[in-house]
Amino acid sequence: MPRGHFITFEGLDGSGKTTQIRRLAAWLERRGHATVVTRQPGGTATGDRIREILLDARNAHLAPTTEVTLMFAARAQTIEEVIHPALDAGKIVLCDRFTDSSEAYQGGGRELGSETILDLHRLVCGNLQPDLTILLLPSFEASLARARRRNSRDEAQTGKNEGRFETEQDAFYGRVWEKYREIAEREPERVERIEGDLPIDEVHEQIVEIVAERLVLAGRES
Ligand code: TMP
Repeated sequence: MPRGHFITFEGLDGSGKTTQIRRLAAWLERRGHATVVTRQPGGTATGDRIREILLDARNAHLAPTTEVTLMFAARAQTIEEVIHPALDAGKIVLCDRFTDSSEAYQGGGRELGSETILDLHRLVCGNLQPDLTILLLPSFEASLARARRRNSRDEAQTGKNEGRFETEQDAFYGRVWEKYREIAEREPERVERIEGDLPIDEVHEQIVEIVAERLVLAGRES
């Protein structure tokens, strides 16, 4: 059984990752590729409990080192429970955020630095690398406006404020954005950037083109 394919999606909050993952999963399934969709933080029962702590706006006091180790704890569980078994079974794994998010948000945003994150990744995740990372970079303003709007709407509906990150200042997000660009420049063979405020359909078309090309290279497309 050939090993599966590991694809991660990255970007600022409100960059449209979740919609694009759903559409790509449907596209892959239609073509007969068994696909598993998961997310970070979360993706397992334990990870979802960790996610609640991380996103709860009442936990404003969380230390950056607590935050980053909880992110990695959730990730270790997803790798063990979801990602490795799916790849071993030859499936395609689509993961909404992975270690690039820790590097961008905690390494850049919280200023812990890239080295700390990459060291943790080696230690906790056995240095598991995605085969491909799609980095969505619509404009900074559009992403944040969408994320904050969604957060207010969700809070009105559920009474829970899960927007601990969305309440961060623009300077924090500026550092996250810069770090994403740095990662993309450092690893151009892994990270494919899709830039600009494009219609959802057009972004989907670009993603499909990239993925189809990679699958052909991996000998998985007829
Ligand atoms: P999302 O699931 O809506 O993308 O939200 C998850 C939030 O957690 C988002 O604001 C980014 C943040 N995050 C980190 O700060 N570090 C990480 O390692 C991950 C996976 C997410």
